[in-house]
Amino acid sequence: MTYLGRLTGRVALITGGGGEIGCAIALRLAREGARVMVGDLYHDKAEAAANAIRAQGLEAGSVQIDVRFEDSAKAAVEKTIGTFGSLTTLVNVAAAVTPDGNAETLSLELWENAIRVNLTGAFIMCKYATPQMRKAGGGAIVNIASQLGHLSVAGRSPYCTTKAALIKYTEVLAMDYARDNIRANTISPGFILTERSSRRSGGKENASRIQGPKHLLNRPGSVEDIAAGAAYLASDDAAFVTGTDLLIDGGYVTFKGVIGPDGKPTM
Ligand SMILES: NC(=O)c1ccc[n+]([C@@H]2O[C@H](COP(=O)([O-])OP(=O)(O)OC[C@H]3O[C@@H](n4cnc5c(N)ncnc54)[C@H](O)[C@@H]3O)[C@@H](O)[C@H]2O)c1
Repeated sequence: MTYLGRLTGRVALITGGGGEIGCAIALRLAREGARVMVGDLYHDKAEAAANAIRAQGLEAGSVQIDVRFEDSAKAAVEKTIGTFGSLTTLVNVAAAVTPDGNAETLSLELWENAIRVNLTGAFIMCKYATPQMRKAGGGAIVNIASQLGHLSVAGRSPYCTTKAALIKYTEVLAMDYARDNIRANTISPGFILTERSSRRSGGKENASRIQGPKHLLNRPGSVEDIAAGAAYLASDDAAFVTGTDLLIDGGYVTFKGVIGPDGKPTM
């Protein structure tokens, strides 16, 4: 694959960068020329992702970050500035593990934690990242939402609700920061084959078989599918794109995951 160097001179901070999608985004942004600070709740995961990037001769650092807390977000932004001198690009990937349940069975603690990580976490990161982007003359924010921010699934209220709210929050962010030349967009992935998403189906093989046909393109997405979209939205190729949601979902939302008797998506 040829990378276009579209992010040369940019500095990116990625939350949840030790996870599978976050790691792929970090690597892709680095391949496009960005210097990348990989942040994750688990520092060893962030460091492993940064190592994988450095192993390719590209620039990366790592930082422990808990997006639920202001002091942690502030420290991560400061480390990015201290290491690379600026911050132009923020990718919010971090998401809480949200167990299934309804109003009666879900604890208030789990509900509030989902909101804190998936929604408030993005707000907190923006609070500390946007002043640096303004200083740099502009920037790009990419928030990772979900196809389930568009659709509703029984038992998954914390996830569906926070991802829908993240899409709305990002629209308003775009409005708040347009005059500062800071663009803000979401990506809504379809089912992407990762450990996390496959757990419900008992592993990647089963998940691929069950989830694939829910997509018009009859397969689950790959982490690289999402990384390609993040690189686009972060780059000047998307210079006229703000306040939008990019569905990278193989047609999942269009077809609303409806499967016909032949196991293929159907109207
Ligand atoms: N995999 C899918 O099918 C799919 C579909 C739609 C959307 N998404 C979204 O993509 C993103 C990544 O998903 P993934 O499958 O790679 O999951 P993942 O579990 O591999 O990655 C999530 C990462 O976030 C980190 N994290 C959790 N809480 C944190 C916190 N408080 N502070 C900082 N980091 C924290 C985790 O340690 C983990 O490394 C998530 O936002 C998820 O909702 C995934």
